[in-house]
Amino acid sequence: MYRTHNCGELRQNNVNKEVTLSGWIQKIRNLGAMTFIDLRDRYGVTQLFFNKDTNPELQAEAEKLGREFVVQIKGKVIERSNKNSKMPTGDIEISVSNINILSKSEIPPFTIEDDTDGGEEIRLKYRYLDLRRAKVQKGIILRNKMAQEIRKYLLNKDFLEIETPFLIKSTPEGARDFVVPSRMSEGKFYALPQSPQVFKQLLMIGGYDKYFQLTKCFRDEDFRSDRQPEFTQIDCEMSFVERDDILNLFEGLAKHMFKEIKNIEFNEPFVRIAYDDAMNTYGSDRPDLRFDMRISNLTETVKGNNFNVFDGAKFIGGICAEGLSGYSRKQTDKLIKWVQRPQIGAKGLVFAKYNEDGTFKSSVDKFYSQEDLKKWADAMNAKAGDLMLLMSGEKNKTLLALGELRLEMGNRLELRNDNNFAPLWIVDFPLFEKDEETGQMHAVHHPFTSPKNDQFHLIDTNPEDIKAEAYDLVVNGNEIGGGSIRIHDTELQEKMFKILGFTEDEAKEQFGFLMNAFKYGAPPHGGVAFGFDRWVALFNGSESIRDVIAFPKNNAGRDIMIDAPSSIDNEQLKDLNLAVVKTKK
Ligand code: AMO
Repeated sequence: MYRTHNCGELRQNNVNKEVTLSGWIQKIRNLGAMTFIDLRDRYGVTQLFFNKDTNPELQAEAEKLGREFVVQIKGKVIERSNKNSKMPTGDIEISVSNINILSKSEIPPFTIEDDTDGGEEIRLKYRYLDLRRAKVQKGIILRNKMAQEIRKYLLNKDFLEIETPFLIKSTPEGARDFVVPSRMSEGKFYALPQSPQVFKQLLMIGGYDKYFQLTKCFRDEDFRSDRQPEFTQIDCEMSFVERDDILNLFEGLAKHMFKEIKNIEFNEPFVRIAYDDAMNTYGSDRPDLRFDMRISNLTETVKGNNFNVFDGAKFIGGICAEGLSGYSRKQTDKLIKWVQRPQIGAKGLVFAKYNEDGTFKSSVDKFYSQEDLKKWADAMNAKAGDLMLLMSGEKNKTLLALGELRLEMGNRLELRNDNNFAPLWIVDFPLFEKDEETGQMHAVHHPFTSPKNDQFHLIDTNPEDIKAEAYDLVVNGNEIGGGSIRIHDTELQEKMFKILGFTEDEAKEQFGFLMNAFKYGAPPHGGVAFGFDRWVALFNGSESIRDVIAFPKNNAGRDIMIDAPSSIDNEQLKDLNLAVVKTKK
């Protein structure tokens, strides 16, 4: 028997018990007459005690052990003289009588503790060592708990968990596909699913009216801290539902998760904000509602004072940073540089301080009197002590830049606390967006998204104005999930493909199977998919979804531990009838 207890289990009431423990050596402290070892497993850490006076041979043996050795020890639980209230096992230690080395370890490339000395690349290369750290384990264990809770909630609502294939044909989620060459069909490729979208719709046609699946999705797209090339969705679909049936049921799931995992109860319905309002008010379709700081449209208020930048602008908007009127010249200069970075792309920033004494000081005092600036303040609901920040330009770009600035000011004012959660639904997304260069329409969600019922008639005349029956769940500025009511009518679906630039043949080639299926009785249906990694990261307080994935890829999409992607040998290429052509960079 390797162990009678785990390393996180023993307490004061176990004193005098003879126990056997197995685990990794975290730390050895040699104090001459005494040696202490911290023994670790996934349940915790237990202190081992060796005494030179009572057992010099064993203490000598203990001194020869190294970090990360796997050992089995036998001994007696004793009360510690120096208790450690920070450790759950801190009241006791084990007076060891026998050590058995199960496996030796080389010196690990970084320390296996919460605050490790290893940078990200080295930790990813030795991910199996990184996984031993309590901080990483916390995320992985939370992930497991959340998966169980999701299943519990959905199974209880009569959902069926059904798997869908990975070796398929391109799915339209807007990213590049990962492809897999086929040996048996020469020159042909499978695509890995960007999501199970078409399969879940086919399951509805197949009569499985409540489906879900925790499944991998594959997207070849640029990396961000909240994106991985393979990630996990909680993918769901239902038949005979309208938008609100779906929102209510999955709001229930979100509330269940908040309650079970974070012990937070939301008694009120989640706020629902129309896409247009979110853009106008927060400059984002995933607003962080942990703080207010709304964008004010000042276009009418500030024009007409011969300040060319504003007079010539299509749109002028502003936000008010509470209590920051004391910002120095250096601080405002820095802020101007911040908004001019390419990621934000603003030309500049006008600011006006509403001083504590009721006077104003702005960067455009030459053009605006104290009375003018008071008008700004009134339009923005600013009060003495606040800092007003204004930007101008093309409407959408300016709103987006103000949205970014809003988040930055929220950070500076410490209004974005990890322990606060502000969930909401964004609804009424546009159905299409137009490519500014080519004029081609693209689906904002995907081509199967239904227009809102009362807007079908606009499809031939004003497709750009149509709103979709689509929604996103947003929490603290993260898009946690999104979905829509689907088109279940062949004619409308064909029209969609046409507007999206597919010829009849292309649509048939790519989605013929789905169009065919629609001919045999398609129930009205809709669904949603949540980004499971993002949801776990949010609940874990992690900056990056990598922290909650057991074996994530690095920024370049590589698994540097197993060295993938990598070359394949000529034999394999021959089997696949493939040749690799090197392009000059
Ligand atoms: P969508 O493309 O919005 O919708 O994806 C759903 C959710 O998946 C998460 N997500 C990602 N997470 C990590 N890495 C990525 N690369 C990544 N891409 C997306 C996000 C997102 O909200 N088939 C539709 C859903 C539907 O209509 O039912 C779909 O896939 O949290």
